[in-house]
Amino acid sequence: MRQVIVAGNWKMNASKETVNTLIMGILSGMADVDSNVIVCAPSPYMSQVEALITHSQLHLGAQDLNENASGAFTGEVSADMIKDFGAQYVIVGHSERRSLYGETDEIVASKVQVALDNGLTPLFCIGETLEQREAGSMEAVVSRQIQAVIDRVGIGAFKNIIIAYEPVWAIGTGVTASPQQAQDAHAFIRSMLTQNDASVAQTTPILYGGSMNPGNAAELIGCEDIDGGLIGGASLKAEDFLQICKAG
Ligand code: PGA
Repeated sequence: MRQVIVAGNWKMNASKETVNTLIMGILSGMADVDSNVIVCAPSPYMSQVEALITHSQLHLGAQDLNENASGAFTGEVSADMIKDFGAQYVIVGHSERRSLYGETDEIVASKVQVALDNGLTPLFCIGETLEQREAGSMEAVVSRQIQAVIDRVGIGAFKNIIIAYEPVWAIGTGVTASPQQAQDAHAFIRSMLTQNDASVAQTTPILYGGSMNPGNAAELIGCEDIDGGLIGGASLKAEDFLQICKAG
């Protein structure tokens, strides 16, 4: 049985005040949450979140990392820096990084490798655009994205990877994949893992992301191959986020 994982991706939305309110709100409702809950904060707020969640069930994640260990990479954040603030998780290959910042499958694979080498659990994001879905190439796209990481780190490493299937057309649009569409994609992803290693395929969590909200979370997470969610917009309100955490 895979544990349900709910991860909040705040993206570039935060202030000291909103972080305080959000974390205190989430903590106040965690008593009856069984899911593994992660909040992925923007880098400048990681220290604040680390202090607020000490001795709680909440876990901290970052939203990206650089594939180099240190050096002249202005504006970038390394795995060591992320760990320095108590984070155990890092989002890698989010579609916004892929489309807005030119992250190729190879760069994403390098970042997954660096996260793993440093003991961080990557939340490895994959997913097709609307154009690709309409062209019938969802399976080809996610296969290519996953294969690039298998080629780099090997299938065994997926024991320490969380996959997030996020159809790009559902991210921030309010258009959620139907439970059937999401389950079909997740089943396909799991079958691809199974072809490589059946036991790894059974344990690798595959989260759904893309306009998940309190109204649709239970049905999505209830699908056989959907093990939780990566939540953008709805992770910014404690009440909504908690409801999703409880849907698992
Ligand atoms: P959304 O974002 O929930 O706002 O659609 C999900 C994500 O981008 O991870």
